[in-house]
Amino acid sequence: MKDKLNKIEEAALQSAVAAVTEVELQQVRARYLGRKGEITAVMKGMGQLIPEERPLVGALANEVKDRLEAAFTERQEGLRQELMQQSLASEKLDVTLPGRVQRRGYKHPITQVTEEIVAIFAALGFGVVEGPEIEKDFYNFEALNIPKDHPARDMQDTFYVTEDVVLRTHTSPVQVRTMLEHEPPVRVVAPGTVYRRDSDITHSPMFHQVEGFLVDRKVTFGDLKGILTTFINEFFGQNVDVRFRPSFFPFTEPSAEVDIQCVICGGSGCRVCGHSGWLEILGSGMIDPEVFKSVNYDPELYSGFAFGMGIERVAMLKYGVNDLRLFFENDLRFLKQF
Ligand code: PHE
Repeated sequence: MKDKLNKIEEAALQSAVAAVTEVELQQVRARYLGRKGEITAVMKGMGQLIPEERPLVGALANEVKDRLEAAFTERQEGLRQELMQQSLASEKLDVTLPGRVQRRGYKHPITQVTEEIVAIFAALGFGVVEGPEIEKDFYNFEALNIPKDHPARDMQDTFYVTEDVVLRTHTSPVQVRTMLEHEPPVRVVAPGTVYRRDSDITHSPMFHQVEGFLVDRKVTFGDLKGILTTFINEFFGQNVDVRFRPSFFPFTEPSAEVDIQCVICGGSGCRVCGHSGWLEILGSGMIDPEVFKSVNYDPELYSGFAFGMGIERVAMLKYGVNDLRLFFENDLRFLKQF
């Protein structure tokens, strides 16, 4: 009996070493220690032994069983280690390779410039308001002294949604909305997206404006010039040439367009400035009494100025961009430069 157990143990240990996968090892284990295994069989057969032998053989069988358990566990650990070594060797992990950088997004240049413009006006005491991009004809045109059949509507190629609803062609409707809600004094800027049927190197059907206006008692054209010149000097630097050019808008009287010297060509003329040496950056003027009437402000008591600035225009000039459409092509080679 003792011999038999020793033989079984030896055979079991050899099989364990011969097993090269965990599954094989499981099978070996079952063959010896399982319910129908060889050691188990020996233990079950002890009833047939003479009583004196039983404790001895029983003790021996238990020892063999314990040793085999330990051996199988050790072999299993060994197999796991081998497997890990193998996969580490075949994976060719190069820990010296640079990591893959998760690049962060950042603000679009138009957003950056908008925030910069707003910040300059905020420092001058202006608040910030916004209005809808899909706008009623009333706010976009009529309340701004542009009646339905007025030729001034031709100045702006409008996208109509319905007869009475348009994609706003400028941020000026925010003037009307704000003045209807607040009594003077008001002093705000209103940045936002606007739409016109226009497309070339200085026009995009979707673009951005910052509206600004100030209404109080005794506001003069001098205030308009002072605020806008201050803004331009802050934004472009002290040495950029500025000119106020008489113009016409139905909602301001008198009106002026403000040009700055073309920074692409330095004023000598190029395709961006239409060979004039100047680039228009905003329209402005003293708010027309007709507008005050449509928002129930007393034109005898109050006066004010307003302006509307093209954000892409000033961004182009500030950064020397020669085609406005670059801002919206979403080419990262362009966008990354800001
Ligand atoms: N809304 C005008 C435009 O888009 C600009 C403007 C605004 C002019 C305010 C005068 C006063 O052309």
